[in-house]
Amino acid sequence: MVLLLIIAGLGVVTLLVILFAPHIRKYAAGGVCTSSARLDGKTVLITGANTGIGKETAQVLAVRGARVIMACRDVEKGEEAAASIRAANPKAQVEVRKLDLADTCSIRAFAQDFLREVDRLHILINNAGVMMCPYSKTTDGFEMHIGVNHLGHFLLTYLLIGLLKNSAPARIIVVSSLAHYFGWIRFHDLHSQGSYNGGLAYCQSKVANLLFTRELARRLQGTNVTVNAVHPGTVNSDLTRHSTLMMLFMSVFSVFIKTPSEGAQTSIYCAAAEELHSVSGKYFSDCAPASVAPQGRNDETAKRLWDVSCELLGIEWH
Ligand SMILES: NC(=O)c1ccc[n+]([C@@H]2O[C@H](COP(=O)([O-])OP(=O)(O)OC[C@H]3O[C@@H](n4cnc5c(N)ncnc54)[C@H](OP(=O)(O)O)[C@@H]3O)[C@@H](O)[C@H]2O)c1
Repeated sequence: MVLLLIIAGLGVVTLLVILFAPHIRKYAAGGVCTSSARLDGKTVLITGANTGIGKETAQVLAVRGARVIMACRDVEKGEEAAASIRAANPKAQVEVRKLDLADTCSIRAFAQDFLREVDRLHILINNAGVMMCPYSKTTDGFEMHIGVNHLGHFLLTYLLIGLLKNSAPARIIVVSSLAHYFGWIRFHDLHSQGSYNGGLAYCQSKVANLLFTRELARRLQGTNVTVNAVHPGTVNSDLTRHSTLMMLFMSVFSVFIKTPSEGAQTSIYCAAAEELHSVSGKYFSDCAPASVAPQGRNDETAKRLWDVSCELLGIEWH
C-alpha cells in the first residue's frame, strides 16, 4: 500500500514537472543580461574558456565585437571551442592561448608572452575552476582547489594588473559561487593536509575568490579598474565531472538547472553593462547585486589571505 502511494506520488510529481516544464525552465534560467553594450575595440581574456560558462561568455563577448583571448590548459580543446564559435559567428575574433593555472611556471610564461604580444587588456574574467576533485596538488604543491581557483588566478591578475591599469577603464570579473556560504579559510591547513573533503576545499576556494575581490577592489580605488565577483547559478556543465552523484543529480534535475549560456549571463553583465562602469568590490548573481556570507566580507581575513597568498607565490603585491 505504502509502495503504491509512493509510486503514485512520484507519478503525479513527474506529470506536474512535464506539464509545467516551460515555466520551470523560464524560472530556472534566472537573470538575463539586458545590456546590449558593444565591446568593439576591447580586449577580453577569459580563463577556462574551452567549455561551460567560460566558452559561452567568450562567444557572447566576441559577438559584441571584442577580441577574446581564450586561456585554456588544453589548447586542442580550446581550438575546438574557438572553431565552433567562429563557425557560428564568422566575424568573431577569438584566439586560444595555453594557460595551466595549476602550474605557476605556465602562468608566468603565459603572462610574459601576453604582455609582449597584446598591448591592451580591458576585461579579465577569472572563470576557470575545479570542483570536488580527488586530493591532488598543483605543480607548486598547493591543494588543487585553492591552487587553481584562487592562487592561480591571484598570480595571473598580479602579472596583468599593470596592463589592466594602462588600459583603463578596465574590469576584472571573478567567478565565485554561492557555495562560498559553506566555506571558510582554514589558515592553519589551507592545503587540507590534515583532513580533506573535496566539497569543503571547493567552498574554501570560493570564499577566497570573494575575499580577493574585496581586497583587490580596495587596492584599486582611483585606478579606473574595477573588480566584481559573480555567482553564475547552478549550471549544467563539466564542473561536476569528479562526482558521479552530482552528475546524476544534474541530469535528473536538468529542467531546474541553468544551461551554460544562462549561467554566463552574470559574467556578461559584469563585463559589459554600462551602469557598472564604476561599481567595484561587489558580488552579483542573476545580473543583480547579491549578499555575501559574513566569512566572505571580513576585511581582516581578506588582508590576511592576501599576505598568505603573496607569501605562497613568492611575490610582493603592495
Ligand atoms: N557549474 C556550476 O553550477 C557553477 C556554480 C557556481 C560557480 N561555478 C564556477 O563557474 C566557473 C566555470 O565553471 P563551469 O561550470 O563552466 O565548469 P567547467 O565546464 O568544468 O569549466 C571549467 C573550466 O576551467 C578549466 N580549468 C580547470 N582547471 C584548470 C587549470 N588548471 N588551468 C586552466 N584551466 C583550468 C577547465 O578546463 P578543462 O576543460 O581542460 O578541464 C574548463 O575550461 C568555475 O569557477 C566554477 O567554480 C560554476
